[in-house]
Amino acid sequence: MKKWIPGKGIFAIYQKRKTGRGPAAASVQHSGSGPLISLENLVKIYDTGAIKVMGLKKINLTIERGEFVAIMGHSGSGKSTLMNILGCLDRPTLGHYYLDGVDTAQMTPDELSDIRNRKIGFVFQSFNLISRTSALKNVELPMTYARVPKAKRMARAAMLLNRVGLGARKEHMPNELSGGQRQRVAIARALANEPPLILADEPTGNLDTASSIEIMELFTKLHEEGATVVLVTHEEDIAAFAGRIIRFSDGQIQSDELNPGKGQEIVSPGQAFASPSSPVPAAKGGTYAD
Ligand SMILES: Nc1ncnc2c1ncn2[C@@H]1O[C@H](COP(=O)(O)OP(=O)(O)O)[C@@H](O)[C@H]1O
Ligand SMILES: [Mg+2]
Repeated sequence: MKKWIPGKGIFAIYQKRKTGRGPAAASVQHSGSGPLISLENLVKIYDTGAIKVMGLKKINLTIERGEFVAIMGHSGSGKSTLMNILGCLDRPTLGHYYLDGVDTAQMTPDELSDIRNRKIGFVFQSFNLISRTSALKNVELPMTYARVPKAKRMARAAMLLNRVGLGARKEHMPNELSGGQRQRVAIARALANEPPLILADEPTGNLDTASSIEIMELFTKLHEEGATVVLVTHEEDIAAFAGRIIRFSDGQIQSDELNPGKGQEIVSPGQAFASPSSPVPAAKGGTYAD
């Protein structure tokens, strides 16, 4: 029996999914040019002077292009350490991290920040949008760093905001948007430079249940369109959206499994709150309420 975290309505979806039909494993797209992420004997030691802390202990892990992976584990198990390394914000102490076939261990800080901007889109728990700056300009920012010409980046930012259901909110400031809308802006921003890898650290941690479902549906849509998504969560019912669930314990991989609940019937946000007997208007499914 799976242990479900109580108190969140998303649970209702999975009760329904558990009884669903369909293939078990998530589809994984291979580009034919090797895995997107490959970790070899990866060790991270934090040297605090008096003591050394093993953040990660000899991790071996491969993530293929197009996978949707949830990373779980208790506090202190190494999730953030892993995400920081995957996101090129930190480097391993020992071992190798190959991103898109390139070993990041030897890179200079400049090379790392370049690869971050081109290959990785980040989504954070606290959204990290720039205040007093419109949604459109927030989404433009990574393209500004990448020296995309103004007309092109404005057009692309507008397209991305449309894609996350915020076409009518382009000129709004972050403080004029709900938490779920802010996170959708952050996801649009993460997509700005068409990165092959989307990393999300507790992206629903500050959201209510309805917004959490919208955000997870958006990640699901991006995954279906071919993005590789790696997401940290401590909630089983958020991890349940992913095709593969990796559990960390004490700096090591404790388990790494395909999600048997994935690939079953899709339940719309409206249905998540309905009791099994109450009818749900079909038109609500798959839309994002602005
Ligand atoms: N900057 C740091 N300095 C020293 N120890 C750290 C640092 N960051 C994390 N750690 C230690 O590494 C281990 C893994 O931490 P972390 O990756 O943050 O875990 P999680 O994100 O799963 O809660 C913990 O023992 C933590 O105390
Ligand atoms: Mg952490």
